Parts: sequence; C-alpha cells; structure tokens
Amino acid sequence: KKDIFIFGIETSCDETAAAVIKNGTDIIANVVSSQIESHKRFGGVVPEIASRHHVEQIIAVFEETLERAGLTFQDMDAIAVTKGPGLVGALLVGVNAAKAIAFAHDLPLIGVHHIAGHIYANRLVQEMSFPLMSLVVSGGHTELVYMKEHGSFEVIGETRDDAAGEAYDKVARTLSLPYPGGPHIDRLAAEGQDTYSLPRIRLEEGSYDFSFSGLKSAVINTVHNAEQRGEEINPENLAASFQASVVDVLTEKTVRAAKEYDVKQVLLAGGVAANKGLRASLENAFGEIENIDIMIPPISLCTDNAAMIAAAGTILFEQGKRDGLDMNGHPGLDI
Ligand code: KG4
Ligand code: ZN
Repeated sequence: KKDIFIFGIETSCDETAAAVIKNGTDIIANVVSSQIESHKRFGGVVPEIASRHHVEQIIAVFEETLERAGLTFQDMDAIAVTKGPGLVGALLVGVNAAKAIAFAHDLPLIGVHHIAGHIYANRLVQEMSFPLMSLVVSGGHTELVYMKEHGSFEVIGETRDDAAGEAYDKVARTLSLPYPGGPHIDRLAAEGQDTYSLPRIRLEEGSYDFSFSGLKSAVINTVHNAEQRGEEINPENLAASFQASVVDVLTEKTVRAAKEYDVKQVLLAGGVAANKGLRASLENAFGEIENIDIMIPPISLCTDNAAMIAAAGTILFEQGKRDGLDMNGHPGLDI
C-alpha cells in the first residue's frame, strides 16, 4: 500500500503552523511560529494583529516545513487546513493559502475542525482504540467528547461559561502574571498548597457540563478582599488552590464519563493538557482503573500545531471527505 502524505495548516489563533504527516501517524516535519510576544503587552490575543502575523509568516512557515521534510507539494496527497472554530480573520489566512496550493498543484482540499485536530494529536503518539472519551481543554474549549470510531464525535459535556484555559489566563491576569497565564499558574501551583477554600463547581447531579466563571470570580474576590484588608495574598497557595479546584472537577467528570460510556481509552487534548497538575491527577486516577488506558500527548503536541490538523485530515482523506475551493472559515463551527 502506498504511503499517504498530508500537508497540514493551522492558523485559527496565534500560532502560524504547518506540518507534513505520513500515514496519519508519523511526523515528517512540524513547524510552529508563535506570535505570543506580539500579543503579550495587550494581555491576550488581538485578532487584527494575529491575522496580519499569519499573512507575514505563512509562506516562510510552508517553505521551512517542506525543506525539513525534504519533500515538495507534488509529493502530497492532500492539503488539510483548520476551517474552524477560531478567529475568523486568522482562519481565513490558512484557508485561503490552502485553497491556493490545492488549486495550483491540483490536490484535494480537506477542512478540519480544530478540536478534532487536538484529539488526533494523540494518534501521533499511539494508536487510538475505540470507544474512547476525550477531555478537550484549551483556551477556547472545555469539552468531553465521546468517539465510537474514527471521525465520529459526540460532545457529552461542555463549559457553560469560561473555557478552562480562559479561566487560567484570567486568574493569571489578576495575579499580574504575563499572557498566556496557564503555564505561570501551573509553575506557581507546584510551589504552593491548597490553602484557600475555593469552590468545586459540579452543576446538576449527573451533568458532564462545566462552569469556571464562578471559580474565577472567587479568586478575584479573594484578591480584592485581601487588598481591602491590607493583607498580602500568597500567590503560590492561591495558584495551587485554583488549580486544585479545576483539576478536581475535570478529573472527577472525566472518570465518571469514562466509566459510564465504558470506554477503552481516555485521551487528553488541548493547550491545558500541558498542565502538570492535570496530567498527574488523570494518570493517578486512571492508573487505578483496570481496562481504561489514559493517553496524554507530549506538551509540544498539546498546544496549537499543524501536525494534529494533518493527523485528523488523514482520517477524513481516507474516508473520502473533500472540500471545494468555495470552502470558508467558520468561527463557531460545531464538531
Ligand atoms: O490549545 P491552545 O494552544 O489554544 C486554543 O485552541 O485555545 O490552548 C491555549 C491555552 C491558554 O489558555 C493557555 O494558558 C493554556 O492553554 N495552557 C495552560 C498550560 N499551558 C498552556 N494552562 C494550564 N497549564 C499549563 N501548563
Ligand atoms: Zn487549540
């Protein structure tokens, strides 16, 4: 059987990324150009700046990807690109670049859902076994996704307000930490103790939905109350307390969902999957459950990249799914 080479493109937020993946599992080249430095002074991603950076970077990122792979566009079987969700101006840069290459080289064009990409980052590490449950935690998403087979996604729970990563970034801002705050909170949490009693928000009994805005407000109130009383807060302990609350709820619901849906595997996906506290808690919880494997990708594959988009795109390619040159970017695309 002939090898399948897919060229992946990701520009949904603040990383301009391209990759070449062989047979859906082997990383041949994976290039990520981050814009974090340009957004830092604004404390978050500025959409207009993100789009402009993508335009400036994308050709160089493509060239470097092909050079590292030692391949050309003629060697590719298809072009896979994130078509949503994300910032519309940012998405359109990748989508239009993908269309141009597909047209120029007469290659199939495949639009990929960003979250499907995050989940498929796992396939670059180990084969997936079904049925499985994926906990997707990123700056824009917090979802439990049930998969009974390749390409089938059922969202069984999601956040009703802030995404987990968003809560991390907002709490970090309250503690005057730089953007993106997740890794900084994670680092501080490792040096502190869970001493502030913060709520665990579980919603109705049996629900797989999440809510993080109340927890975020509780942290902000803790900081303001301390300021008013002229007391110092302990940032390490506050970070540890916040992280413990997030990790407890994520772990609890993931374990319950995995058992109820009787899955073989649990996959962690998205930028917050880089969190050391969450990784340890899930490994610990599933280490004690027989017959359910936990899979956690390396940190470089957790945050936005194009290898995961090409990996998810390979499945769509094999299933015969194609998009036309009229494909658009979709900021609020459902999985
Ligand atoms: O998946 P991603 O790169 O972009 C989105 O699709 O949103 O996720 C970025 C998010 C940010 O909110 C960032 O603070 C968070 O992931 N993040 C972390 C850690 N590393 C990145 N959150 C907690 N702990 C970390 N170590
Ligand atoms: Zn992402």
